[in-house]
Amino acid sequence: MRTLNIDITNIGSMPIDQHIKKLTPYIAQIKQKLQKGDGDFAFANVIDDQQMLNAVKALATQKKKLHPCMIFVIGIGGSNLGTMAIQEALFGRLYNDLNSDMQIYFADTVDSDYMHSLLVIADTALKDGKQIVVNVISKSGKTTETIANFELFLQLLKKHCPQDYADYIVVTTDKDSSLWQLAMQAHWAALEIPCNVGGRFSVLSAVGLFPLAMIDVDIDALLEGAKHMRDVCLGDSDNVATHNIAVKTAAWQYALLQDGYNISNLFLFSNELRGLGKWWRQLVGESLGKAQKEDGTKNIQAIVPMMSLGSTDLHSVGQLYLANVAKVTTQFVMAEQNHFDIKLPDYAEYFDKLVPNIQHKSLANIMHAIVIGVQKAYAKKGLPFCTITLPEKNAHYVGQFLQYKMFEICYLGYLLEVNPFDQPEVEAYKSETRKILAYE
Ligand code: PA5
Repeated sequence: MRTLNIDITNIGSMPIDQHIKKLTPYIAQIKQKLQKGDGDFAFANVIDDQQMLNAVKALATQKKKLHPCMIFVIGIGGSNLGTMAIQEALFGRLYNDLNSDMQIYFADTVDSDYMHSLLVIADTALKDGKQIVVNVISKSGKTTETIANFELFLQLLKKHCPQDYADYIVVTTDKDSSLWQLAMQAHWAALEIPCNVGGRFSVLSAVGLFPLAMIDVDIDALLEGAKHMRDVCLGDSDNVATHNIAVKTAAWQYALLQDGYNISNLFLFSNELRGLGKWWRQLVGESLGKAQKEDGTKNIQAIVPMMSLGSTDLHSVGQLYLANVAKVTTQFVMAEQNHFDIKLPDYAEYFDKLVPNIQHKSLANIMHAIVIGVQKAYAKKGLPFCTITLPEKNAHYVGQFLQYKMFEICYLGYLLEVNPFDQPEVEAYKSETRKILAYE
């Protein structure tokens, strides 16, 4: 297996060396923390946790024996975005339409109409005598949206399977949460989220691994990819500037931020990689969007993450980017290989009348021409960008991508002097919501 190709030749004339130098001793600190097995960097240790992996695999095997035709993942933010991203990247956004044996649905909002649709899907399957598995995932165990949605699914399961509904429930949460206690009392299967692994850093723990194992994602390959990337992102203390891609791209983004580039656009040229963009947006937004620095002083720097889908969004926000009126840093993300190669027919009579030079070409050729065309236009305008290429859309490379971005965020957090692991403002909205609901 190769390492993700991250081409940062188009980094402009940013002075990144000083930032790389600042990050170099930090790599040693992270390594020490990892060796001790404590601290916030547990996200990079959880991928070695054989006990957790065995528990996930055993539970997935057990639940598959119930022959479910669907799994409903009930969680929000860090508790579901990573899983959704991996499922889409590996199996495609239309996976449920094409796969009748085992479908996966995500309940991550309390939107009545959307939830109605999901409940109808579940209810129809249960009425037809089919089985469903419900995996409720919440680190805190008390996120309003998640618990509300779980209660609805619980009600449905109780209605259709009054005797054995408990068999179809899997709870993933912290061991000291009240959701865990509830699961123990009710004899529901439960998987633990290690206490040091934060929500948005938890995709490679039981949070993501259990539902992904249920739909037959190669979770071993996913973890192997992440381990490979961990070595890269912690590696080469003698030659960090050349080989440590997470340090390098973090330094590049930080340098651009100093030059006013405070918008960061992940431009994904693959429909199936869109979920990775949503996962990354949360990772950046919650990890770096802080009112205070670690020393308690006011933080005034922020990277505003946005994601765009190529080529679709060229017809939506492409004009804005290419007009160069906003200071946007772009990371193009793409895959070298598609699963399928689709060739256009050879309608010679269309050559002059519609779009010339596309007859008999493959869609991949056309997409490639668009990507290169966009990058040339960016270069001409002097817009800063880099290119991240996954050799294939497989579990190994997706694992690499996730781990790379988690380390990059830690390095950016260090440069910005903010704590990337907390989310005090999100907590504030959660507690306000609970108060409103209590007095309504
Ligand atoms: O990264 C985070 O911590 C958050 O995005 C959480 O994942 C999100 O708020 C959901 O919280 P919980 O898993 O506790 O329900």
